[in-house]
Amino acid sequence: MISRKSEREIQAMHEAGKLLASCHKEIAKMIKPGITTMEIERFVEKFLAENGATPEQKGYQGYKYATCASINDEICHGFPRETPLKNGDIVTIDMVVNLHGALADSAWTYAVGEIDDEKKRLLEVTEKALYKGIEQAVIGNRIGDIGHAIQSYVEGEHFSVVRDFTGHGIGDKMHEDPKILHYGQPGKGVRLKEGMVITIEPMVNIGAWQSKMDNNGWTARTIDGSLSAQYEHTLAITKNGPLILTKQD
Ligand code: MF3
Ligand code: CO
Repeated sequence: MISRKSEREIQAMHEAGKLLASCHKEIAKMIKPGITTMEIERFVEKFLAENGATPEQKGYQGYKYATCASINDEICHGFPRETPLKNGDIVTIDMVVNLHGALADSAWTYAVGEIDDEKKRLLEVTEKALYKGIEQAVIGNRIGDIGHAIQSYVEGEHFSVVRDFTGHGIGDKMHEDPKILHYGQPGKGVRLKEGMVITIEPMVNIGAWQSKMDNNGWTARTIDGSLSAQYEHTLAITKNGPLILTKQD
């Protein structure tokens, strides 16, 4: 079932999204060589509590943390840990904020210290791929239009799009229908309607798109050890076009 939200519901999710965006902006200032992803995890817990919000990922299907922290070749669902980040690493922090029952979901990849030109290009292309997808998130378009815009841009840049994880509808629950694929054919799939709220969250690899699962049953990493980046926004489909609820101004 695909739910459609009222303006009031979208407004509440927007408040959650603004808080999540401000949390990411604080994280951006913290990320430097020597910091651990467990310190970021603790910061997020404290930041959300101070702002009357809760971390929706904690306890979700047994997941133990407020954040996912995926380093270098980890694609998604890395665990926060006590290992210090090193100069030249890239790290994706993903979290879902619950503010008075309204949810928002956003992931961002950060450079640790100085990164080389290939990593810079990976981050730039992945972020741009997110916005190429968002551009297509208009009433009357189909989900395949989003996926196709992302895939054709990323592959044109000689990177690959992960297929084992998708974006999703979001509402009362973190994951609702429909699945938002980051690859596909234009004109195919579910039609986008006013009031739908979805995430678009392309994961882009320098090498092959395939992933493998760690023994912890959560963390996915690239099959060839190549680096992976991800940018994710929550957005509403509105009469005035896509409204990004997790925008970092
Ligand atoms: N935030 C993730 C998403 O983009 C979900 C993380 S899974 C969890 O869909 F278990 F960590 F919550
Ligand atoms: Co997310």
